[in-house]
Amino acid sequence: MIYLDNSATTQPHPQVADVVKRAMEEYYGNPSSLHQKGLEAEHVLKQARSVAAQALRVKPAEIFFTSGGTESNNTALKGVAFQYQSRGKHIVTTQVEHPSVYDVCKQLEGFGFSVTYLPVDSEGRVSVADVQAAIRPDTILVSVMHVNNELGTVQPIQEIGSLLRQHPKILFHVDAVQSFGKIPLLPHEWGIDLVSISAHKFHGPRGVGILYKRDGLKLQPLLMGGGQEAGLRSGTENLPAIAGMAKAIRLLEETGHDESERLAGLIRRLRAGIADIPGCVINSPADGAAPHILNISVPGAKAEVLLHALEERGFLVSTKSACSSKANEPSRVLMATGMDRNRALSALRISVGRYNKAEEIDRFLVALRESVDRIRPYMNV
Ligand SMILES: Cc1ncc(COP(=O)(O)O)c(C=O)c1O
Repeated sequence: MIYLDNSATTQPHPQVADVVKRAMEEYYGNPSSLHQKGLEAEHVLKQARSVAAQALRVKPAEIFFTSGGTESNNTALKGVAFQYQSRGKHIVTTQVEHPSVYDVCKQLEGFGFSVTYLPVDSEGRVSVADVQAAIRPDTILVSVMHVNNELGTVQPIQEIGSLLRQHPKILFHVDAVQSFGKIPLLPHEWGIDLVSISAHKFHGPRGVGILYKRDGLKLQPLLMGGGQEAGLRSGTENLPAIAGMAKAIRLLEETGHDESERLAGLIRRLRAGIADIPGCVINSPADGAAPHILNISVPGAKAEVLLHALEERGFLVSTKSACSSKANEPSRVLMATGMDRNRALSALRISVGRYNKAEEIDRFLVALRESVDRIRPYMNV
């Protein structure tokens, strides 16, 4: 099977798996314990924190370990909302956020917050002018993702950060789950207060992630208890996963920009091939997209049917066309771009990672052409 669903999750690097195993076997002490085993574990934790801090060019004390992107996003949004509600109850976000931001905003509406969900253009991009226009005297938070998980669209984070410098009381959160390690993100330089990261998107273990929180910023914790992670995230630290994530970050740094360039090359190859397949259209932006995601449609086809036709030929991709509860509902994100329903219902996401090779892309293109030909007689066009 050729795995082309790296935006959903990635295969852990073998060296990451080794580090996790070794940490489980050797560093089983509780980092809060005062004896030797505890101190060893604490040392591993400290090293991992400094690896993460270096990668983001921030201070180790600004790195908080969480259980992944969902928890980091929940902590950022609810943490700000509940801490600063006396200052105001308005939040600005976009219509294309991941559910771990979007649905949290919906939940916060139930707690009396008011949320502006900004529209996006046909490529899924939010405009800085719209962010500016949405700001009110009671705005406490702006949350915009860096790279969209369905389309790969890169949002103008640096520009939004500059705009928000003129509003020092408004906090800026960025969901960087799909961008970390792929394209640069500099929280200090770009005026970002909170960043969410998840290890399983970059060949690390799942169930572990990072929340960057600017020094001095206070948040209401989601989890109360033993006071770990400077009181922001209680619970005995998942040391093996944290050590594995630090290893995955180190491996990212070894390959660095070259690997992003290589992934972008694979996506360019895919684009060029798809342009030659009758009936296939590309939904991801040509410019300003992440290097690892390509969203396509075969209007008239059912995405699930296409996905299984590709799977029969040995290729694993993903469909975001239907949310699990409503079988025939197209993706909220794609509909926000103004795409017609038929096209959105036939969308497939192909996403590459460090184990994919150019030759696999060529074979995928053959399989895609065959699959589209096979289902064409049944298509609703
Ligand atoms: C943009 C984005 N944010 C958040 C998440 C959630 O991350 P996790 O799976 O670590 O909870 C994902 C995962 O798909 C994502 O793509």
